[in-house]
Amino acid sequence: MCGIVGMISQEEFTTIELLKALKRLEYRGYDSVGYATVEGILQKDTGEIDGFLKTVPEHRTRAAISHTRWATHGGVTKENAHPHAACGNLFFIVHNGIIENYERLRDQLHGHNYVSETDTEIIAHFIEEKIRNGLTVRESIETFIAEAKGTYAVLLLPRGEEKIYAFKKDSPLVLGIVPEGFVVSSDIYAFSDRSQKAIFFEDYEMAEVTATDYMFFKHGMPIAKEIKEFKVTYTEIKKDFPHYMIKEIHEQPAVAERLVTSLKTDQKHKLDRLSDLVRQARKVVFVAAGTSYHASLLGVHFFHETGVETQTIIASEFRNYVTCDEDTLVVAISQSGETMDVLKALKYAREQGARIASIVNVPYSTIQRMSELSLEILTGQEICVASTKTYTNQVIALLALAQKFGYDVNLDTISQRIKECIDTHEGQVKILARELRDCQDIYLIGRGLSYPVARESALKLKEIAYVHAEGMMGGELKHGTIALIEDGTPVVCLIPDEDYEMESNTREVQARGARAIIISNNSEFSPDFLLETSSDGKFAILATVVGQMLAYYIAKERGLPIDKPRNLAKSVTVE
Ligand code: M6R
Repeated sequence: MCGIVGMISQEEFTTIELLKALKRLEYRGYDSVGYATVEGILQKDTGEIDGFLKTVPEHRTRAAISHTRWATHGGVTKENAHPHAACGNLFFIVHNGIIENYERLRDQLHGHNYVSETDTEIIAHFIEEKIRNGLTVRESIETFIAEAKGTYAVLLLPRGEEKIYAFKKDSPLVLGIVPEGFVVSSDIYAFSDRSQKAIFFEDYEMAEVTATDYMFFKHGMPIAKEIKEFKVTYTEIKKDFPHYMIKEIHEQPAVAERLVTSLKTDQKHKLDRLSDLVRQARKVVFVAAGTSYHASLLGVHFFHETGVETQTIIASEFRNYVTCDEDTLVVAISQSGETMDVLKALKYAREQGARIASIVNVPYSTIQRMSELSLEILTGQEICVASTKTYTNQVIALLALAQKFGYDVNLDTISQRIKECIDTHEGQVKILARELRDCQDIYLIGRGLSYPVARESALKLKEIAYVHAEGMMGGELKHGTIALIEDGTPVVCLIPDEDYEMESNTREVQARGARAIIISNNSEFSPDFLLETSSDGKFAILATVVGQMLAYYIAKERGLPIDKPRNLAKSVTVE
């Protein structure tokens, strides 16, 4: 959470260019925005980058840092917006992460005047005090690294000196090599339109960057770092779509096809090796959060169908429920590859000797770098905070893996089926969304294949449409929640093929007055949405696509900020 971008260049650039690069990271948080230049110009405010751009004058500079915030410590105020400076204004700081012992560090310092409620400000005062005591900037940063607890990716810009210091622990940080100089940022998307060359920071590393050179250090010693070349499909333009979410929903046939092809060609070898790792393991555990967790639930189901037992656990609870050893394979599923809860779970698993593999979207993300093997889902950047196309491709990757163990699914038709599903049902979803515009609660029920779909669609309805939605196991509803069903309560019933138990659950809610909305591939159930597919993983993908569209169009009916829903950030890099 929070995006940071620093730019340093042999040629002048404008602060508008800096903010445009920052905008590509806005999915990481959008509570406030700010920047500082080497000349000492500091601008910051609450709100999003587009609004900010309209109010700030343009400056030309050769070194500047910027920040888009997802508030953790301290409310959404101008004072709490980054960059921060210390009393002497020697330099500016931007930070992503949480300094857990900031109060203890503050107690060590004397005579400082704090102007914000953030944990970040302590970094500035701490380093400034060390500099005042005679240490160099680098030594002061090393002292901070030695004493700070928590997570951080920090950029430090000295006033009047064209140099950026960058250092990190747990939060992501990357140095992009662009033609005129360097970009230091939370992730590659800040510069991936200009360069595909980067150096990824590991924990406790620091870099001193000028417009022409850089040096990396760890524990005070210079270290050599490798330049990596990466590939991303960059998609910034919304084209004919009013929101990224609907654009990304419509991209699903294309990205699905790209992945299916890659799993048979470029990534075939990796898929084979991943299936070997699964075979060798005594225990296979998926770990993920949010939407990626729902994809992993489907993974467990697909494997179960082949007779291979696996399990999945929400990342933030991994340590409380799972034990690992050297015969355990932990497979992380993550769009960003940076979700802190997943990273912490992987560190815990690694300490216990487990082997680590992953399925990620962002190349060279921390989770990918922690994995001995990582499949990429190749969707290109997903800009809307709500995951859509990345979920679909996570499920496809899991289907391809389960296929290696005998799961029966034709991956070649997935892309076409998704396209038909969108073409056939989008109009009807719009009508339903109008009907459900003012509803307070929606329940979604499924079993087996359709249970993760119920949960994923509910998550979309909550985060985008702000509807209280519960995705449940059909069998569990009558153990309590059915008490909430009243006349007209919408209940989405997901009935794959001949799932007569799900059909009974549907009748049960209808008998209590629910407005059942049936999604099925079996015309016998007179579904509202008849999906043209067999009852394998494709059903789960198509039914979710209907759920995605429903959430989108209800949110649109309600006039909500679909791509940037309140309180959320796409990349959850704090615990
Ligand atoms: O990047 P990750 O896949 O690890 O992110 C996990 C969740 O934060 C994410 O799936 C979140 O639930 C989605 N934005 C929901 O649409």
